[in-house]
Amino acid sequence: MSKVDVLLGLQWGDEGKGKVVDVLTPRYDVITRFQGGPNAGHTLEFDNKKFVLHNIPSGIFRQGSINVIGNGVVIDPVTFKKEIDKLLDKGVDISKKLLISKKAHLILPTHRVLDAASEASKGTSKIGSTLKGIGPTYMDKTGRNGLRVGDLLSNFDEKYAALKKKHIQLIQMYGFEYDLDEYEAGLKEGIEAIKKFKLIDSEHTLNSYIKEDKKMLAEGAQGTLLDIDFGSYPYVTSSNTICAGACTGMGIAPTSIGEVYGIFKAYCTRVGSGPFPTELFDKTGDNIRANGNEFGSTTGRPRRCGWLDLVALKYSVMVNGVSKLIMMKADVLSELETIKIATGYKVNGETVTEFPFELPDNLEPVYTELPGWKCDLTAVRSEDEFPQELSDYIQFLEKELEIPITIVSVGPDREQTIER
Ligand code: GDP
Ligand code: IMO
Ligand code: MG
Repeated sequence: MSKVDVLLGLQWGDEGKGKVVDVLTPRYDVITRFQGGPNAGHTLEFDNKKFVLHNIPSGIFRQGSINVIGNGVVIDPVTFKKEIDKLLDKGVDISKKLLISKKAHLILPTHRVLDAASEASKGTSKIGSTLKGIGPTYMDKTGRNGLRVGDLLSNFDEKYAALKKKHIQLIQMYGFEYDLDEYEAGLKEGIEAIKKFKLIDSEHTLNSYIKEDKKMLAEGAQGTLLDIDFGSYPYVTSSNTICAGACTGMGIAPTSIGEVYGIFKAYCTRVGSGPFPTELFDKTGDNIRANGNEFGSTTGRPRRCGWLDLVALKYSVMVNGVSKLIMMKADVLSELETIKIATGYKVNGETVTEFPFELPDNLEPVYTELPGWKCDLTAVRSEDEFPQELSDYIQFLEKELEIPITIVSVGPDREQTIER
């Protein structure tokens, strides 16, 4: 019996999950996505090529790996077809390497309309959703109205027509103007594309892989601070992004979980609305955005940038049971004289170190300052080449978080990855 390792984001997403899953895939037989959908944008770079994946697991580029879209994922036939077509254009054929759970819920065109209508109705307090239909699809799942991949195999048109009717009534309540034909474009082709893949009862398949001792990695999407239960609610996504989500999103037992890889950037970013205690609004923030190319992989929106937040990171380590840490994008901080790390929050004159129920506007981070390394790291390939200041930064974090940092990333390419 093997264990399933889980790799997940500890911040507000975009930590570099795609890159590291691709780097680790040669050690695994099976890579499975367990939650989220095309709101994710996972970037991989190798051999001077760059790919961004949304619904497809990041193990897809390696020979011999099986990739699974688990039951906890939501999948949009329209965007899924675009994603596979883009890969085909670049000569990548995934038809034999990808299995899709029949229990994964379908994002329908009217879910995307509902997402847009809901955001428009919120005005300045909008979530900043990627507008991929994620929220309405998970609402239909928990509301017991949703349609699943398995529903594509019988009377789908009828089921879709009935649900669409309900959705149209809801959209009318919002008073939202839309062109349904535009949203429905590509639906038929998308459905046919999904049906060409092997549609499976994934919980049976995945548990049989465990029995066969296959090595398995679960790939998280989004990040812990976007988790529906533990994130900065309501500015979150609609699924459980934490480790427990791997159990419900794959149908595996908690006792089957092996290593929990928690991945974080050497600083923090957030895209979309919501509190961000260590956000920078100055030149340093602009410098991080420019050097880190911090623009959304899915929406192209500029990402908000700020210092590393240990209060939030400790919380994420706790709720996930992280056993190994992975630190990304150390190279991005290369120009900075000093680097700040938040170790507490000051709220109404009192310092707190536990991630609170809410992050109020008057919250002030309490910072520790460490000297920057002030040198280019992008050609570094082993730990002995680390500047002393980087080693000190890592040591400080390991002491605070009480978990080893086993991988340090110094650039977007596969090769720019150092194991410790
Ligand atoms: P994901 O959603 O967690 O997979 O992350 P994204 O792909 O959305 O965003 C991470 C971005 O950082 C991508 O553009 C990656 O190519 C890039 N990246 C990953 N690791 C590093 C790194 O160590 N240094 C730099 N400079 N870029 C990185
Ligand atoms: P990956 O997997 C960063 C954010 C959105 C918005 C909120 C809700 O690439 O790390 P949704 O579309 O889910 O209703 O949006 O969550 N968000 C992400 N931010 N990375 C992601 O995925 C995200 N997926 C959703 O910006 O604030
Ligand atoms: Mg991303």
